[in-house]
Amino acid sequence: MTTQAVSGARPPQRVLSGMRPTGALHLGHYHGALKNWVRLQAAYECFYFVADWHALTTHYQSREVIEKNVYDMVIDWLAAGIDPEQCTLFIQSRLPEHAELFTLLAMGTPLGWLERMPTYKDQIEKLKDRDLATYGFLGYPLLQAADILIYKAAFVPVGEDQAPHVEITREVARRFNHLYGRSADFETQIAAALAKLGKDDARYFEKQRKAYGETGAAEALAKAEALLARAAGAVAGWTSDDGELLAGHLRGSGKTVLPEPQVLLTEVSKLPGLDGEKMSKSYGNTIAMREEPAEVERKIRKMPTDPQRVRRTDVGNPEHCPVWQFHQVYSNDEVKAWVWQGCTTAGIGCLDCKQPVIDAIKAEQQPWRERAEPYLSDPKRVHWLVEVGTERARTVARETMHDVREAMGLAY
Ligand code: TRP
Ligand code: SF4
Repeated sequence: MTTQAVSGARPPQRVLSGMRPTGALHLGHYHGALKNWVRLQAAYECFYFVADWHALTTHYQSREVIEKNVYDMVIDWLAAGIDPEQCTLFIQSRLPEHAELFTLLAMGTPLGWLERMPTYKDQIEKLKDRDLATYGFLGYPLLQAADILIYKAAFVPVGEDQAPHVEITREVARRFNHLYGRSADFETQIAAALAKLGKDDARYFEKQRKAYGETGAAEALAKAEALLARAAGAVAGWTSDDGELLAGHLRGSGKTVLPEPQVLLTEVSKLPGLDGEKMSKSYGNTIAMREEPAEVERKIRKMPTDPQRVRRTDVGNPEHCPVWQFHQVYSNDEVKAWVWQGCTTAGIGCLDCKQPVIDAIKAEQQPWRERAEPYLSDPKRVHWLVEVGTERARTVARETMHDVREAMGLAY
């Protein structure tokens, strides 16, 4: 993680991320994402939001799921240690500006960019029980791009599966800046600068620029840049503005209306589900963040272990056991050494082995329950906090949309 945001007088850079409200958050969400969100809040200006429209792209037939989970999810965030004083928390659908930007970006986004998204075909394959041959689902990454660009986020913390969505966001921003990031007299200024170069050099420059634009040839770019460097000392009346203008023209960029975000890859959680597969509600192998302690105990006690270890007297191999993976997350070296030794010599039983994990999870969850309590007993508190966050987000979103409309010639 970079911490440049805390040094110097510049305001902290913005971090943005969202989560789909499709069910109670579980330990996989905590270790895979939320823990990282909490870490980031001190160093950056963090915007975290409930991606309810994104949830609808896959759950458009089950509105009750989303309805139920919107505020519950925010409570899970708060339970995990997200500090509403430091972060801006809001709900996507409360900000129609996201939809406006999505629509405007859609005009110039090639279909192929969306069709080629690895998540697109993948999810259609995986979620066969749902009809995902919809316009909304194809547009999923573009809506995500609008979420990110509308806040001019510098960093987007997501898991690896979401990295292509941040990548397409960068392409969308680049294209937008290329198409619209120019002042009205940009063309006139370019023509004037080219005229200063003289006919031959201007023609040569344009030839290289076109070659670079069409094929991305680095050689053409270098030739054109060399010409600009030469012009700086040699052409009468040449200014540094002329150089910058033509350099922007050459690279196809104008003014940056929508800055390109960077992905902040979250380390993949080592915590699997109870069965050793990825923890996911659809696999029924989760422990909810606010699971009852008795339920935690029951679930861990039932967890499968090394299949070779049938009887208490059989030795086991921790590498073949999901409980061992839980120890990787929850136990110190001493406990891990005890497990390894005890398992491979049949010195301990599997229930003995599971006990420290049960204790550690319960201990981890205790403060979560305490933090969640005031919000559960007085839901107005969460509503209020989201209200404040939504208005804060709206101020930023409105400003961006003002710039976007202006850049696109919609400011009449
Ligand atoms: N697609 C993300 C996910 O499934 C959720 C999301 C929506 C998001 N919009 C976003 C994440 C913007 C980061 C930034 O996890
Ligand atoms: Fe798994 Fe522990 Fe049993 Fe070994 S002793 S098989 S690591 S639960």
